[in-house]
Amino acid sequence: MTPLLERRLLFVTGKGGVGKTTIAAALGLLAASLGKRALVCEAEPRGALSAAYECERTGFEPLKVSSGLYAMSMDTEASLREYLKLNLRLPTAGRIGPVAHAFDFVATAAPGVREILTVGKLCWEVRERHYDLVIVDAATTGHFIGELAAPVGINELVRVGAVRSQTDWMLEILSDPAQTGVCIVATPEETPVNEALELAGRLEGETGVALAAVIANRVLPELFGRGDEEAFEALAGTSARRRLAAVLAGAQGSRRDAAAVDAVIEAARLAIRVRRGGAEHLTRLRESVPAQVPLLYLPYLFGRSHGPRAIRQVADTLAEELGQ
Ligand SMILES: Nc1ncnc2c1ncn2[C@@H]1O[C@H](COP(=O)(O)OP(=O)(O)OP(=O)(O)O)[C@@H](O)[C@H]1O
Ligand SMILES: [Mg+2]
Repeated sequence: MTPLLERRLLFVTGKGGVGKTTIAAALGLLAASLGKRALVCEAEPRGALSAAYECERTGFEPLKVSSGLYAMSMDTEASLREYLKLNLRLPTAGRIGPVAHAFDFVATAAPGVREILTVGKLCWEVRERHYDLVIVDAATTGHFIGELAAPVGINELVRVGAVRSQTDWMLEILSDPAQTGVCIVATPEETPVNEALELAGRLEGETGVALAAVIANRVLPELFGRGDEEAFEALAGTSARRRLAAVLAGAQGSRRDAAAVDAVIEAARLAIRVRRGGAEHLTRLRESVPAQVPLLYLPYLFGRSHGPRAIRQVADTLAEELGQ
């Protein structure tokens, strides 16, 4: 398989809130730190990317974040203007005004047009070699297949002409696993893992785009092993608890000290339970992801989990996981 960062176009998807933006931002940072020219594109413009990098609000024009790293937000209407300008050689964007109105009409009437403009813009950046790697902070799993399948659908619909030749080159980029891939993010929980596996199963058949990696995010560290668990259960016994409370309070343990001991023991039991629940979902993920697809693990960040420092931390871990 082509190494992840050797590809040209990566889509990062997953259930809502699993860490898509964090990971897309970190992949961009990592690529740039490896000397690549990277563009990270927020498919749904909500300002999440500028919050991650703590930079100016991103727009359709790529913004330089740091050396080799650029960020943008998708805007389908701007994408249409750019397309028309490039293809029809219209002199100024201003003249395209009425077309943009027509666009709303067309986009509503013809399914896939809006999506084609999004995916088309990204493929175009790849084709023109403006960047070594384009990373997309993409839609959630539910909407993702539809967006990525749009070029396939339109290509099947249109047999000849300009639209056909436009979708042909897009499909060439999208269906080439050496160039394009999807990273599915999941947290070690029931629904995110279910959604990840469902998408992984449907991806290639419905969109022709290859699965490049599965990323398990917010993985809890294994704080306690089996031996520790036995120790905790021994400490939870009545006489041990009484003695611990006494240690806390000097000679005579009060009721408050006993409660503090109970709280610590309960916290340890909870940590073990939560970690064990997560581990089951991780096992399910590992067993269902095809062996040749890398499964990367990112730990739960207990400190600040957003902003440039967190992104840098995630990028460093991704580098280790990818052996870079
Ligand atoms: N490894 C991690 N450890 C702890 N918190 C994390 C981790 N990764 C992401 N987060 C936090 O989880 C929240 C969601 O992350 P993020 O915004 O990247 O997810 P998303 O999938 O892009 O969400 P949305 O679907 O809303 O776009 C954020 O508050 C982020 O800081
Ligand atoms: Mg996001």
